[in-house]
Order: sequence, then structure tokens, then C-alpha cells
Amino acid sequence: MSRMKYAIIMAAGSGTRMGAEMPKQFIELEGKAILHRTIEVFLNACPGVSIITVLPESHMDYWRQYCLDRNFICPQVLVKGGITRFHSVRNALEKVPAGAIVAVHDAVRPLVTESFVKDMFMKAETTPALIPVIPCVDTMKVLEKKKNANGDEELVTMPGQNVDRSVLYAAQTPQIFHSEILKEAYEQAFDTAFTDDASVVLKYGKNLSYLIGERFNIKLTTQDDLVLAKAILSLSPSCSS
Ligand code: C5P
Repeated sequence: MSRMKYAIIMAAGSGTRMGAEMPKQFIELEGKAILHRTIEVFLNACPGVSIITVLPESHMDYWRQYCLDRNFICPQVLVKGGITRFHSVRNALEKVPAGAIVAVHDAVRPLVTESFVKDMFMKAETTPALIPVIPCVDTMKVLEKKKNANGDEELVTMPGQNVDRSVLYAAQTPQIFHSEILKEAYEQAFDTAFTDDASVVLKYGKNLSYLIGERFNIKLTTQDDLVLAKAILSLSPSCSS
């Protein structure tokens, strides 16, 4: 029998790098909030999926009102975010039973395609922890910020830190798991190295499987990303509903 399906949509960040008044997940992209677009991808990819939306406490009423105003009638459980992404995911996992499949996705990645999400849910029936990654095409530098003699901050090389690009991949979301594994992994104490769910599960000692993600599934972080997202939406019909 196939497992119940859950999608945790992470939208509790403050989004300060966007430089907007509103956290970036609520900014409108071609007439719809980014969060709205993201939830729709999951609902269309996997009808019957249980949506858990994690929000800043300060914006829970805002989101309820947005859904009413836009007639966005979607069964979703709203959960209050935590101090870091890790704490937000942990709060959401209280609503997920063991024995299910759970996808965790950044609300600010609305350009993931329905077909990719559908494929991940299918693969997750037999794969306990599945992580999408993109090979790094740029040469990476390991640098640190230091103050110079004038007191200005500048970037300096960390000695002995040349990295072999051929082994570097950027992790994306959705990351998808058998829920009992993710729930157990999230019982660990917080570590600042936990910047995604894969890092939490890996530290818990479980194996991860990988698949190549989607180049256009970018994390909308700065104003420039919004320009890119509009261009991608205009080109790709599967992203543009
Ligand atoms: O901060 P970062 O870019 O890693 O955020 C990735 C996603 O996690 C965003 O969609 C953000 O809203 C969410 N997040 C969260 N709770 C936090 C911090 C970030 O749900 N405390």
C-alpha cells in the first residue's frame, strides 16, 4: 500500500536579502504570491497531498486573509515557524505521522515543475531519503570577510582552500523522506551546520539518495532573482499558471 503524502512548505523566513517590506514568500510574482504559486505546484503534482504551511507568527492572519481574498481554497494546516529553518521544520513535523512520505520545500522556490515533484513522490515510495542536486558550473572560492587597515570589510583567501569543482553540487528542495526517518533525525540537538533537511538526516547516520534537480528551480533570494523568475515563467508554460 502506498504511503500518505505530506508537503511541508517552508515560509517562515523573514527574507531580509530581498530588501522588501514584506517577507519574500508573500511578494507577488506575475499576479500571485510566491507562496501561492508554490503550494499550487504541489496540489497539482500530487492531488490529495496534505499541505502544511509554515509561517511567521506575524503573518498568519495576513496569509489567511490572502487566501480568502484570492479565493485560494486549499486545505492547509498552518504552523508557526521557529527561530531557524531547523526549528520551523521541527514544528511542522509534529503534524506528520510516521509511515508517510514527507516532502520539505522552500516556499521561495515556486519554479519547481509539477512533473518533477510528481516524479519525486513516486520515487520516494521506495527511496527513504531523496535529495535533488545541481552540479556546480562555477569555480568556487573559499573566502572570509576581514576588516582592512581602514576598517573596511574585504574578502580574503582562506589558505589551502582550493576546491575541486567536480565534486561540488548545490542542494535544492523539495527534499523527500520517509517520515519516520525525518521525525527521528529532527529529534537531534540543533547544529548551525543544519541548513537543509539532508544535513540533519546525514548527521543522524542515514544514507541519502540523490537525483539531478532542475536548473530553473532557483531560490528567490534577491530582487535580481525576481527578474529571472519572471523571465522563466514567460518561457516555460509548465511554470506559468
Ligand atoms: O533562510 P533560507 O534561505 O535558508 O530559507 C529557506 C526557506 O526556509 C525559506 O522559504 C524560508 O521562508 C524558510 N524558513 C523558515 N523558517 C525560518 C527560516 C527560514 O520557514 N526560521
